[in-house]
Amino acid sequence: MKIHSAKFIMSNTVVSQCPSHNLPEYAFIGRSNVGKSSLINMLLNRKDLAKTSGKPGKTQLINHFLVNENWYLVDLPGYGYASVSKEKRTKFQKFIKDYFLKRKELTTAFVLIDSRHKPQDIDLDFIRFLGENRISFSIVFTKIDKLSLKEINKNISHYQDVMLQDWEEMPTYFITSATKKTGREEILHFIEEINAQ
Ligand code: GTP
Ligand code: MG
Repeated sequence: MKIHSAKFIMSNTVVSQCPSHNLPEYAFIGRSNVGKSSLINMLLNRKDLAKTSGKPGKTQLINHFLVNENWYLVDLPGYGYASVSKEKRTKFQKFIKDYFLKRKELTTAFVLIDSRHKPQDIDLDFIRFLGENRISFSIVFTKIDKLSLKEINKNISHYQDVMLQDWEEMPTYFITSATKKTGREEILHFIEEINAQ
């Protein structure tokens, strides 16, 4: 899929105030600093459309972007970052959960996982939450430019083993680097196929 246009529409913490539309919507979720906003910029070929930072906790709102005038992409705050105050963290969790439970426009979610780390409970819990609520998702391993090919294969194969303790099969997954643009074509093609349905 070619990206002809991408524009920021609005930010929100209240799901009922998110834009109303009949277009497919794709959400990007994962721990703070995993690379959600960077991946979105990479997919859309824009340097700074979604705000990124080396410090976790940059994205704090539900951000809607309209792409090619026919689908929406949503940048969400990270879950489970310890240095955000407990009060704020609980609020994140509530409106993030609300988004997934109430947002009828949501077509499928991309759960981002840092390819460098061992499987983390918080990610596995979030994936379980999606499964229990029958919310469609796929997995995106990020920052593979920081690993050797051998390490990438080892880590992903380990992730699959852990996932298969809970799931009958490994969900669709993508291997990406925002800096090297790895995985861009695959994710855009996946979205294009769903949009065509
Ligand atoms: P929050 O908004 O805080 O939840 O974080 P986020 O998940 O949106 O992460 P963000 O895109 O802001 O990136 C966090 C940091 O990781 C930034 O310093 C990025 O430059 C870096 N980063 C993101 N993706 C990649 C990648 O593929 N490779 C490398 N090397 N760095 C990356
Ligand atoms: Mg962000």
